[in-house]
Amino acid sequence: MAGSFFLTTAIDYTNSAPHIGHAYEKVLADVIARYRRLRGESVYFLTGVDQHGQKVQQSADREGIAPAEFVRNVTQQFLSLWTKLGISYDGWAATTEPQHKLCVQKILQRLFDEGQLYKATQGGHYSVRQEQFLTDKDRGPDGEFGAEWGQVEYREEENYYFRLAEHKEWLLALIGAREDLIQPAFRRAELRNAVEKLSGDLCISRPRSRLEWGIELPFDANFVTYVWFDALVNYISFAPGGYDPTSANAEFHNWWPATIVIGKDILIPAHGIYWMIMLHAIGFTDAQMPTLVVHGWWNFGGAKMSKSLGNVVDPARLAQEYGVEALRYYLMSDIATGKDAEFTTERLIARYNADLANSLGNLLNRALNMAHRYRDGTVRRAGGDSPLRARAEAMVEAVDREMLAFQPQAALAAVSEFVTACNAYIDMTAPWTIAKESERAETLDHILYALIESLRLIALIVSPVLPTAAREMLFQLNWRDELTRSALAWGGIGDQHTVGKPTPVFPRIESEAA
Ligand code: MSP
Repeated sequence: MAGSFFLTTAIDYTNSAPHIGHAYEKVLADVIARYRRLRGESVYFLTGVDQHGQKVQQSADREGIAPAEFVRNVTQQFLSLWTKLGISYDGWAATTEPQHKLCVQKILQRLFDEGQLYKATQGGHYSVRQEQFLTDKDRGPDGEFGAEWGQVEYREEENYYFRLAEHKEWLLALIGAREDLIQPAFRRAELRNAVEKLSGDLCISRPRSRLEWGIELPFDANFVTYVWFDALVNYISFAPGGYDPTSANAEFHNWWPATIVIGKDILIPAHGIYWMIMLHAIGFTDAQMPTLVVHGWWNFGGAKMSKSLGNVVDPARLAQEYGVEALRYYLMSDIATGKDAEFTTERLIARYNADLANSLGNLLNRALNMAHRYRDGTVRRAGGDSPLRARAEAMVEAVDREMLAFQPQAALAAVSEFVTACNAYIDMTAPWTIAKESERAETLDHILYALIESLRLIALIVSPVLPTAAREMLFQLNWRDELTRSALAWGGIGDQHTVGKPTPVFPRIESEAA
């Protein structure tokens, strides 16, 4: 399929409720997906939930309910949040689905048959309370395991291991050869360093005796699959067409490789090492390795996300309080993809009020009002080029470049700059003066047309970030055509076009803090 784009995100862990970090990643992917659709590409956007694992089992136990019920509840919270935030996903990956389990098991069986998996006994420090093995990283500054681990004992355990280290040289060569593997590019060096240090293999099983909540190994019913090995497979088990390691599938290969949007915390080792090597081991070529778009973190005054803080940054509550468009705009305009940023509601309000309520909202209001006041709402396409045309075209070009580089923040900065230029154009040309001079009627037509046409382009180009507000703007501009790539060319508003009356699209957010 020409121009087909398969976009997917990390699947959210269902151990606890969604927070702003989850919302950010989903909005980022949604904006990219919507922009690609606007460009005329066929897009398949997959997201979902990671439902297995030790922590889920422990949380369910604490609540005294079955893990299946526990994840059903948390999954519902994610689903309703994505609906509320307007996340336009095409596929939903929930790892307890039979189609996914089957795919994971087929992959395990194949790797087992090919000798990529082996059984071994390893010993280590085990926390009885937390039901997990500990590493030196879990030791306190005094070298001891802290009280939070409860009783710690030495244990030996049999498990299955995946021959990771065997593929180290291949992975280093891949990182060297594929420049587009990781975006933004500055994280490539980080991954290379981590791979250079890679030595051991990956334990991919957990004995049933201590973890029930997982996918059973197809060749040994006493074990379930380690949650990361299970979760990573979602990108292919839920891909359009569905991947099957035992049979070729043309539809799958029309869409694959995917572009995967993840946070920086899960690049190393999960996506950059485990996932790449898993794909390689099951026969994916170098050209079939996915692209990883690695975003940074929203921080909260240096504080770790906690239950009480989780409340403050509950995305559903923020959307309720300030509006979905304000939240989406903030999440896309105040962080550069790959970098970290500080989340504050004061910033959210300030950005919305400055860029949307004042700047863009004001432009729409002024332009529509003038069209009504001076021309009864009908604009003429007068001859000669407008100085706004070249600026509009430069903006469309910049947005295209930045969106394709997964940088909505830079794209929105280009839009903002253009909006400012349009407002300045009104101040400079002073249409209220020209309106008094009958011999300059054509000049006034020229100005009004340029403003309405500029607004049409702005509405179209911000529609991936602000889908509802853009629709409202286009409604007021009375532009009803389809949102397509060709609509992004200057001149879409016809001669004698009648616009609607302005009603505020971006009412100011009033708050003591603003
Ligand atoms: N379940 C795993 C991913 C498995 S992918 C096969 C996981 N889940 S998570 O719920 O902990 O995180 C989901 C995504 O949200 C990750 O990409 C993570 O980086 C992102 N974020 C979680 N907190 C975040 C912030 N505070 N800021 C930005 N994104 C962060 O990891």
